[in-house]
Amino acid sequence: MIELQNVSKSYNKGRVKAVDDLTLTVRPGEIFGFLGPNGAGKTTTIKLIVGLLRPDAGTILVDGIDNRRNPVAAKAVTTYVPDTPAIYERLTGLEYLNFIGDVYGVPKADRLRRIEKWLEIFELAEAVAAPIQSYSHGMRQKIVLIAALLPAPKVMILDEPMVGLDARSAHHMKAMMRTHCDGGGTLFFSTHIMEVAEKLCDRIGIIHKGRLIAHGTMEELRARDREDQSLEKIFLELTER
Ligand SMILES: Nc1ncnc2c1ncn2[C@@H]1O[C@H](COP(=O)(O)OP(=O)(O)OP(=O)(O)O)[C@@H](O)[C@H]1O
Ligand SMILES: [Mg+2]
Repeated sequence: MIELQNVSKSYNKGRVKAVDDLTLTVRPGEIFGFLGPNGAGKTTTIKLIVGLLRPDAGTILVDGIDNRRNPVAAKAVTTYVPDTPAIYERLTGLEYLNFIGDVYGVPKADRLRRIEKWLEIFELAEAVAAPIQSYSHGMRQKIVLIAALLPAPKVMILDEPMVGLDARSAHHMKAMMRTHCDGGGTLFFSTHIMEVAEKLCDRIGIIHKGRLIAHGTMEELRARDREDQSLEKIFLELTER
């Protein structure tokens, strides 16, 4: 569960209002897709949820925990994949995964089983012994995704997770997102890929200039005389102004 109540955030002493009075709830078991034009406020919202930024106003609850009052408890139930991951280049992939496993206190047996499974799925079993500085863009993205899966968190927050993934990895990624939520997890992700959002998400939110201008299921978004419309069309229409 993720709950944002009247959350606002501005930069440059109020000159740029990046997130403007945002209220939304993502329930357990739900994949929530967060869409919006470049600069709309998606990454800012995500950084507020994971506690990397402080809101100017409003409250954020993660699994019922106030992320300002109990930041460590909120972080313990959440994993996060940033848009441009900063990872420890000199660690090998395996060292990095074990480091994340230690931080989250993942028991050894679970850790080995999960690491083996995800390395196999994302075809990273060979590369995992090499330092991360030798990884391609997509390989880095995959190791960070595996790190986010490793703790089997209640809440996953992903900022444009498909960027750089090849077709097979993107396919596995989508299946993984579904499995996470079918097991009762909550997943919030931003994307520019309309087809992915349309097919994968239980609910969608569209942010434009910091304000949530639409949210709901695909059916609900279509409801206002937009029958049979694709998400792309709805998005283009809503963000035109
Ligand atoms: N550190 C910062 N300092 C000043 N302004 C910022 C900062 N980070 C973001 N902004 C501004 O806040 C607004 C929202 O940016 P944000 O990164 O949240 O957008 P986004 O929706 O993630 O965009 P994109 O699709 O390009 O990733 C933009 O106007 C941006 O210029
Ligand atoms: Mg962004």
